[in-house]
Amino acid sequence: MPKIKSMLKKLELPIEIYSDRKELCGEDFNLITKAQEARKLAYAKYSNFKVGAAVLLDNGKIISGNNQENAAFPSGLCAERTAVFYAMANYPLSRIVKLAVVAGKDDNNAEPVSPCGSCRQVLLEYEKNQKTSIELLFSGTKGEVIKFFSCADLLPFSFDEKNLK
Ligand code: THU
Repeated sequence: MPKIKSMLKKLELPIEIYSDRKELCGEDFNLITKAQEARKLAYAKYSNFKVGAAVLLDNGKIISGNNQENAAFPSGLCAERTAVFYAMANYPLSRIVKLAVVAGKDDNNAEPVSPCGSCRQVLLEYEKNQKTSIELLFSGTKGEVIKFFSCADLLPFSFDEKNLK
């Protein structure tokens, strides 16, 4: 069993694991497909690790994005934040319903992507603000998809506005 799956099982998080994206419901399959398409357009010449993300808003719009790297490495941005920041910049009154992420160096990566800490922090900020859970779908470029039902599950003991008071 891949390491990530046994770790998640120990945490007993409410996740769903689909062995193939064809098992997803139509809405989730569509979102994963959009993330897969966005991945192809990633600007990832330094890591060669292309990531695509697609956000479904409650107004029905789907916003996609991908990782944007830079010769000054820390200046780049992950796919998740590229998509979510664009979505919230343009539709600040909308809620995020779900986010799908697809990643891998090639079309043969079966290991679902695990989002970085900064992306988890950003996603949780919007989830807390909108007061409704954001569903998350994580996938490699092929094979299984892991579904989470809240960003809070990905970032326990988090820093937020309450800490600033
Ligand atoms: N990356 C993402 O875009 N999302 C993730 O969830 C993990 C990492 C990007 C950042 C960088 O461009 C490349 O993948 C390698 O870390």
